[in-house]
Amino acid sequence: MSEIKKITVTDFEEVLGEKISEYLKQKIDEYDFAYYEFSKEEEEEIIQKIEQHLGKEDFVKAGKHRRDQWEKGWEENLKNLDEAILLDKNGFPKTFRPSWAKFSPQEIIPKYFAKHDILRWKQKFVKPLKKNFELNSLYVIQDWLFDKYIRNVETIYEFGCGTGHNLLHAREINQDAEMWGLDWTKSSQEIIKKLSQKNSKYRFNSKNFDYFNPDYDFKLKDDSVVFTVVSLEQVGNDFKKFIDYLLKQNVGLCIHIEPIIEHLDEKNKIDNLSIEYIKKRNYLNGYLEHLRNLESKGELKILKAQRSYIGSMFIDGYSVIVWSKN
Ligand SMILES: C[S@@+](CC[C@H](N)C(=O)[O-])C[C@H]1O[C@@H](n2cnc3c(N)ncnc32)[C@H](O)[C@@H]1O
Repeated sequence: MSEIKKITVTDFEEVLGEKISEYLKQKIDEYDFAYYEFSKEEEEEIIQKIEQHLGKEDFVKAGKHRRDQWEKGWEENLKNLDEAILLDKNGFPKTFRPSWAKFSPQEIIPKYFAKHDILRWKQKFVKPLKKNFELNSLYVIQDWLFDKYIRNVETIYEFGCGTGHNLLHAREINQDAEMWGLDWTKSSQEIIKKLSQKNSKYRFNSKNFDYFNPDYDFKLKDDSVVFTVVSLEQVGNDFKKFIDYLLKQNVGLCIHIEPIIEHLDEKNKIDNLSIEYIKKRNYLNGYLEHLRNLESKGELKILKAQRSYIGSMFIDGYSVIVWSKN
């Protein structure tokens, strides 16, 4: 392994393709992106490990049948949250910081973060020094997009929000907006209600919503912002119903941080493993192409479509798409 390296503001400017704001610089400084690089031999071992994993027969595929698993997963986070709240002896739930929450309560951070201590950065595998490296790099992408697009917006919806930790992050940038967390699991809504009951600054609304069967009675507010973070990935190539639903609403902007297969380079070995993984898991596939078709028909405008070069061991999962209705 190499000597310790660190992702800097300049590195992020390079991958994001633009000069970044003072706000984002400050956020990057708060996180710690120290890491080691692997040697060629170590990289080869990682590749072999991933290839073995991809070769397994019993691969878990995303899709309609997975609702119960998601329900169970978030129920566990809900239970942990309840326990953390009960543990407090001073009349103030331990989990909820009295001043503005700088980082999300640990209980609502999905357990799949930091599952492996191998991550992806600029088409290489790296070993982070800190456990929160992946989560914080996802937060940098959010800080970047939220700073640009949600600061002065009146209504914000996160679809497929899970425990709602991204909404907490959005709240840091916009403390006045009406915010909604939507998900097809009931435990998601329970977590979000609990967060809002315990901290009046959160003020999140929640609603059950299934990408596979959008509820047209739920109307989105004019000029609102919709965002998704690694949740639309779960629908595979069955995304048209959700897009049709969004196009019928008067939303101002849609922001996605999702694995976008079209952004990966199949000639690059490490990217190619991610492409294989996305296909095997039945993750989002063909979404950007569909948006481009809709753009060519004048139905929407793509404002941003780029990869972030950040990912976990198996997947380069945090590409960015921003689009608006014409
Ligand atoms: C990987 S988690 C991401 C959760 C959250 N966005 C985050 O970043 O922590 C995927 C989320 O998508 C939700 N999901 C999966 N299929 C869905 C569907 N058909 N409709 C709505 N939500 C769905 C799951 O319940 C889960 O909360």
